This record gives sequence, C-alpha cells and structure tokens, in this order.
Amino acid sequence: MNYTPFEATITKVTQLTADTISIAFEQPEGAPLSYYPGQYLTLIADVNGNEVRRAYSLCSSTYANELPTVAVKAVPNGVLSTYLLSQAKAGSKLRLLAPMGHFMLEVQPLKARHIVLIGAGSGITPLYSILKSVLLAEPNSLVTLIYGNRTEDSIIFGQELYDWQQKYPARLKVINCLSKAPETWYGPKGRLDADLLAELLEQSAPVISVSETHYYLCGPDGLMETATAELKKAGVKPYQIHKESFFHAVDEAAREAALAAAAAAVTSAHDDPSQGREVLIKFEGDEYTVLVKPEDTILSAALDQDIPLPYSCQAGLCTACRARCMDGKVHMDEMEGLSQSEADEGYVLCCVAHPLTKGVVIDYNA
Ligand code: FES
Repeated sequence: MNYTPFEATITKVTQLTADTISIAFEQPEGAPLSYYPGQYLTLIADVNGNEVRRAYSLCSSTYANELPTVAVKAVPNGVLSTYLLSQAKAGSKLRLLAPMGHFMLEVQPLKARHIVLIGAGSGITPLYSILKSVLLAEPNSLVTLIYGNRTEDSIIFGQELYDWQQKYPARLKVINCLSKAPETWYGPKGRLDADLLAELLEQSAPVISVSETHYYLCGPDGLMETATAELKKAGVKPYQIHKESFFHAVDEAAREAALAAAAAAVTSAHDDPSQGREVLIKFEGDEYTVLVKPEDTILSAALDQDIPLPYSCQAGLCTACRARCMDGKVHMDEMEGLSQSEADEGYVLCCVAHPLTKGVVIDYNA
C-alpha cells in the first residue's frame, strides 16, 4: 500500500443534485488507480492555510467507468465539502491518497449470490459502485437496492439507477423510499424506520440462498443501527452484514462525553501524566519511537514528529490509520471503525488510540 499523497487532475465535475457533485480524476500516468467497489479516496486540499483531508467513497466502478470518481455532498460547516463544491473544476488539481477501506465487495464472477444494498442520502456512493460491479462482473448474481431520500429531487444517481434497472430488469430491483413523498409517488413512503425496513427486507428476502445473501449498509447512524437490528432479528449472521462506518453522523454531545471519559482513563493510567509514554511504531520498514502525552493520540504525536503515517478522517471511522498493537495495551476513544474480530486480533486505529501501558508496539504492516 502506498500512503504517499500524489497529485491528480480533475477531468470533470458534475452536479448530481442541488447539494451534491461528482468529481472525476484523470488516471495517474503509468500507474492507474485500482480499487474495489466500496472503497474510498482521501482528498487533500489546503483550505485557509490548513491541510484538510477527507475520505470520499468512489461511486465509479472499474468494471463500468474509466475514471475514478467520487461524490461529494455539501455538509453544513464541512470545510472540505464547502471548498470542493465552490472550487472544484475541470483542469484543477488535488492531492489524493490511494484507494483504501475495508468496506468492499470482492467480485467473484462465478458466484450466484444476492447483494442487498441499504442506504440513504449520499450513502448511495459506495453502494452504487458495488451495484454496477456486481451487475457487470457477476452475471449470475442479483442486486436489490433499498434507498431512502427526502424528495425525488434529492435522489443521487436517480436517472442512472433507473437506466440500470431498465437494462437489467431481472437482476436489479431498486426500491426508492421518500420521507416527503408527493401524493403521486409510486414507491414506499416514509422514513426508513424499523417497520418500513422490516417490510422492505421481507420483499427483498434471499432469493438465491440465505448464506449467499450479503447486506451492505451505508447511511446515517440511525439507519445503520436500525437496519442492523432488523437484519439480526431476521436471522442474518454478522458475517453477512457489511457496514461503512466513516459515513455516520457523529453525535457531538455523546462524542464529547466519550472523549472526556477516555481522557480521564488515559490520564489515570499514566504514572506521571505530564511525561507521556513512549510508543514504538513500525512503518514501511522503519522504526520510530514517539512520546505520546495523555492529550495526544498515537497518530497526532507521530505527525508532530513528521512521521508520514497515513490518515484521513482522524475520527476513528475511515480506518486509514489502522495498525496492529503487537505489545502493550492501548485505549481507543472510538471503536466504530473496527469490527469485533479486528479488535480481537489487536488492530487499533491510531488516530483515536492512546497508550495505556509501557512498551506499546504498533506495527502498520502486520
Ligand atoms: S484517520 Fe480515519 S480512522 Fe484514523
């Protein structure tokens, strides 16, 4: 994995809805980007003198699209999304990190399976990449998309989804749900709450075999939690549920409280809080010793020492900073970005990790 930022030229900016654009990038010469459906790109820009990095899911598919393309929705007070919506244009350049992310589908052309995609708003972005890839590269597989929006105008890729459905009527079912639907709306109406989801999931019940049905979720926190609960109630096993967590809306008050509790735990774990703890970091064949103070994370302390570790969201969600704790113990402020099995195997997200013991060893290549 190459973690070094590189420059890419924007070839096209397309207005998708009133507050969402797509940005297509020229393929880097001699080293075209390859990626799995569902992965994301980290976009880096200098905004008001500060470097800002954000992860944006790729809506393109290597099976359908020549150019790697992300969709960007305006987020209230979102520094980079505001900048991109006003400044991104064909011919301008941005810095990128190579595609990353563990929310992805590995295309298996010989498989016959049912892929159920559940999303809302800009959560469609990685799901659209998965949808196209499965339709084009897994000829025996089926796709169902359950997609929630407020109004018809806010459906991202509305026309494209319609076109795909016309092209693959026997293999693709698109269920558009509108919470503010007009009288004339033909599809389901209302928010994607537990009742509506249960009803729609019943309509999307496994049609090939239960074990060959996989669910991919991307949308606001509430939807992800409700969908997960409904799927579990329906007997779906955890390995069949795949979630993109960096998308989720953070409850600021809850997050502040969690961070305060984490800071207290970390501080009390230090013999002398003002001294911090030394952490050994192994990255791309080099070893670095970093002093991490209680108020720092392992990532922030390393970046302060100009160690070029990869990162994107800095909120424990995108997994760009995922590494393995080989020795000692760390505390994580946020666990959302890791699966339970990854946590059990010792993986940590360095942007939200603090050393709790002496002798912590972090390995990015393990
Ligand atoms: S930078 Fe995104 S999880 Fe750490």
